Amino acid sequence: MVKVGMMLNNISFEYFQEKYLDSVYNLEINIFELDAWSKSSFISELDNKFSLNLVLSKNSITIGYIFSSLIIDDCYISNFAISKPFQYNGFGKILFKYFIDILLYKKSKYISLDVRTSNINAIYFYEKFGFKKIYRRKNFYKNPLEDSFTMNKLLK
Ligand SMILES: CC(C)(COP(=O)(O)OP(=O)(O)OC[C@H]1O[C@@H](n2cnc3c(N)ncnc32)[C@H](O)[C@@H]1OP(=O)(O)O)[C@@H](O)C(=O)NCCC(=O)NCCS
Repeated sequence: MVKVGMMLNNISFEYFQEKYLDSVYNLEINIFELDAWSKSSFISELDNKFSLNLVLSKNSITIGYIFSSLIIDDCYISNFAISKPFQYNGFGKILFKYFIDILLYKKSKYISLDVRTSNINAIYFYEKFGFKKIYRRKNFYKNPLEDSFTMNKLLK
């Protein structure tokens, strides 16, 4: 496995840290608009001992990120996005695969997430990674109000 922090073909994966606060927050606002995490949510991730958060950069520019909490062997993905101009070019898949490799290395067994029921592309993306819808949570999202599908996958 490529080590976190290592650069490969101008792509690097690093743990989220203070130097990425502005670039990640700017992407978040641009991608999720009214439903974006607040800056203070990102700040609180900086010293959360249960967080496993990665930032993907290309040519030293932040183009994606994944935020999760990992408690013992149970991982919950709370945020995942790729910069708009870079979407549908395989970067999400690269970041997600790398993230799952880290979980396997850490002997994580379960992984779950919520996704807007209308987010067909993301649902399709997760299904390709073997996730299954397990239930629907009413009004899980607020801006705009919408149900989520909770999806999960067992890691082996
Ligand atoms: C969901 C997201 C993270 C996926 O990352 P991405 O870099 O765009 O995805 P990739 O290019 O790696 O594509 C992976 C898969 O997405 C799907 N995909 C790719 N291009 C697509 C397109 N034009 N239309 C629909 N689905 C497409 C395919 O299933 C593809 O797999 P394949 O190439 O084996 O067919 C990204 O699109 C994103 O940030 N979306 C907005 C934020 C969001 O919805 N986040 C998830 C919240 S739960």
